[in-house]
Amino acid sequence: MEIMLIDDDLPCINNLKDALDPGGYKCTIFQDPREGISAFKKHDFDIVVTDFKMPEMNGIEVLKEIHEYNPNTYVIMLTGYADIENAIESVNNGAYAFFRKPLNFKEFMDTISRIYIELSHIKEINRTIQEMRGIINFKDSLSSGTNDNKNIHHFNKVLKNNISALLDDMQLQSNEYFIKNIEFMAKAVEARDNYTSGHVGRVTAYIMVIATKLGWNQKKLEQVYLGSLLHDIGKIGISDTILNKPSPLTDEEFELIKTHVMIGVNMLKGMPRYDEFIEYIRCHHERYDGKGYPTGLKGKEIPIEGRIACVADSFDSMTTDRPYRNALSMGAAFAEVARCSGTQFDPEIVEIFLSMFQSRSIGVEFMELKK
Ligand SMILES: [Fe+2]
Repeated sequence: MEIMLIDDDLPCINNLKDALDPGGYKCTIFQDPREGISAFKKHDFDIVVTDFKMPEMNGIEVLKEIHEYNPNTYVIMLTGYADIENAIESVNNGAYAFFRKPLNFKEFMDTISRIYIELSHIKEINRTIQEMRGIINFKDSLSSGTNDNKNIHHFNKVLKNNISALLDDMQLQSNEYFIKNIEFMAKAVEARDNYTSGHVGRVTAYIMVIATKLGWNQKKLEQVYLGSLLHDIGKIGISDTILNKPSPLTDEEFELIKTHVMIGVNMLKGMPRYDEFIEYIRCHHERYDGKGYPTGLKGKEIPIEGRIACVADSFDSMTTDRPYRNALSMGAAFAEVARCSGTQFDPEIVEIFLSMFQSRSIGVEFMELKK
């Protein structure tokens, strides 16, 4: 597998090359991204690992040029500036993964291994297609009466291999469909709610950033992504009139809205593969002080997934306009999150959440919080 490493920081890419070469990967390094792109156009690379911030051009520009030439290339972004804007922009532009410097080598190598497995599957599928073509040719020769036992034996062997490859392919596709289904369900819920357009996507992004900061591995991050998308799935069972009511809810209506949590849990409970996302649904309205719903769990009794989702979900609600109230500014919302640390929110999660925004290079709204 051929890997291109682009970074103006020579010691950093040399370290990466030293880590990857013993694994049998063939690495080529470029300090100048333009030279890297030009080499990419002349030679096939499976993966491009690029720094985010370089003097000549930034990682997003590199990513766009690489994908314009070959959209199937896996691009991994490295950055010393791991704020949410960079992460979201990279993912929106098709980066496969995003790593903060100094690099967690284990997670980085896990990602490379995962790409290697995916590419092996793709190559296997291509091989199967070639062999299927061979079978068609064999069938043609059977009808013309030019085959013998040796050829028939070969035919059986090829057929058996193809069935096995086909099953692997189906498994791969079924995972893809599973993810697409969840994304579709999330969009379906959001489409019914006039006032929270983009809510699920933003909450998912916030949760992903917190989980990344917590050092969760790639597999867990995939679970985080899907669980976050599903957190409000139970709203599918709430009437449009309540969901889109242009004035504040009555107590009775609020009680009905609250049922979206258990509707969601009951929808997915017992469904194979969906079980693992239930805590995001069940616990995203639990409060650290035990005054949340549906169960009133307190402190660390609330699964970590719920404690993270609660901060992300509430922050997005605060910063979204409703017909009966204006959105808080980002700064005022940060201040509100800070104020509710230890009551509504887990202080550890609040600290992580606020520190991520404090580190942003553009922070007009955050300046408001500092005042
Ligand atoms: Fe909710």
